[in-house]
Amino acid sequence: MGSIPATRSRFEAVEHKPLGGPFKIEAAYRSDTSEDKVNLGIGAYRDDAGQPWLLPSVAEAKKRMDLPSCTHEYSPLHGIDAFIEPARRLVFGAELDPEIAPFVASMQTVSGTGANSIIAKFLARWIQPQQIWLPAQTWDNHPHIWRQNAPAIQVRDYPYYDQKTCSLDFAGLMATLERDAKEGDAILLHACAHNPTGIDPTEDQWKDIALLCEKKRMFVVFDSAYQGFAFGNLDKDAWSIRHFATHPDLEFAVCQSFSKNLGLYGERVGALHIVTSRNAAPSVALAIRSQLVEIHRGEVSIAPAFGARVATTVLTSEEIFSQWLEDLVFMSGRIKAMRQALFDELVALGTPGSWKHVVDQTGMFSYTGLSTDQVAVMQEKFHIYMLPTGRISICGLRDANVKYVARAIDSVVREGKA
Ligand code: LMR
Repeated sequence: MGSIPATRSRFEAVEHKPLGGPFKIEAAYRSDTSEDKVNLGIGAYRDDAGQPWLLPSVAEAKKRMDLPSCTHEYSPLHGIDAFIEPARRLVFGAELDPEIAPFVASMQTVSGTGANSIIAKFLARWIQPQQIWLPAQTWDNHPHIWRQNAPAIQVRDYPYYDQKTCSLDFAGLMATLERDAKEGDAILLHACAHNPTGIDPTEDQWKDIALLCEKKRMFVVFDSAYQGFAFGNLDKDAWSIRHFATHPDLEFAVCQSFSKNLGLYGERVGALHIVTSRNAAPSVALAIRSQLVEIHRGEVSIAPAFGARVATTVLTSEEIFSQWLEDLVFMSGRIKAMRQALFDELVALGTPGSWKHVVDQTGMFSYTGLSTDQVAVMQEKFHIYMLPTGRISICGLRDANVKYVARAIDSVVREGKA
């Protein structure tokens, strides 16, 4: 203690860590004073005026909640049952849920990030897979979450995006896992609307992936952050997960987020569901949940209540739920329309290359194929902000800026050709 001079801090060796990923782009966008600026960075839905959108279903839920008289009591440590159960039903569907529920350990989490972190810690403590396989292109937080929460588990990449065809490198994915995945490894799969590429496996490809995971006894972690954003349909967007659930011996987890599909970004609403083998005794799911609670207690104690109560109101009121289905169709419809508009503009401009992938991809993002250098020019010259990987959030496009964005892409692509 006495060895630290009074004028100096013990923290002088702490290195400054610059912001990374979408939040870095967001900060740069905000500090740009140009009137032309366009934000295609962060994955958050925007309306056609470029503003955050309060979903009508969420607005109605808040009206019904009688907010002035809401109290602020602690929830149980595992979360609010009235939220967790309909959240689980949303994942597995009304048909499968009653059969699977006794074998699922579920808890409320601090959105999808919380669920991903808890499953990483839980696997590290109880299962100790040697490796966690992440798609080579993935949400930039995935590797960070695994390294921080499960440092003993080696992070590996499996091929995902084929740059030449702008589509899924399914053969590479299967061959790599077949060859290098060890029995008992963990693997992360995006349930739908893959972030950042917007490319999902087909149903037949999902079937093959499930068989391979079963054969290798891999533990699958589904990240489900976009249910309702791919097809605009909650059931279709849960197809992959529900298919895996038809394999009674496949044990897997689902990290569920309501940030995007309910627009509850800042409220941190989510859940973690761990599906055990249908041969397991029901006590197994209960034991798992008790351990999840133990880990969570040491992290954040209890997930926040407010957003989960809003979600519960949407999920459990028939009328508001119907409105939500319309909201999802509306959001995914606007995204599809903007994909088409960008594609049409690029075709009209005769921009070199094929841009069909922009309309073929699904969900919030498009992996444009622009290089890091081209992305830098987009930002410096045109004040258009996107991730260095070439990912754009389609939600940032609108009638008022899509022509401008297409002209900018056209210009950077032609410059590269010169
Ligand atoms: C994104 O990928 O832009 C979003 O999921 C925001 C985030 O947390 O990175």
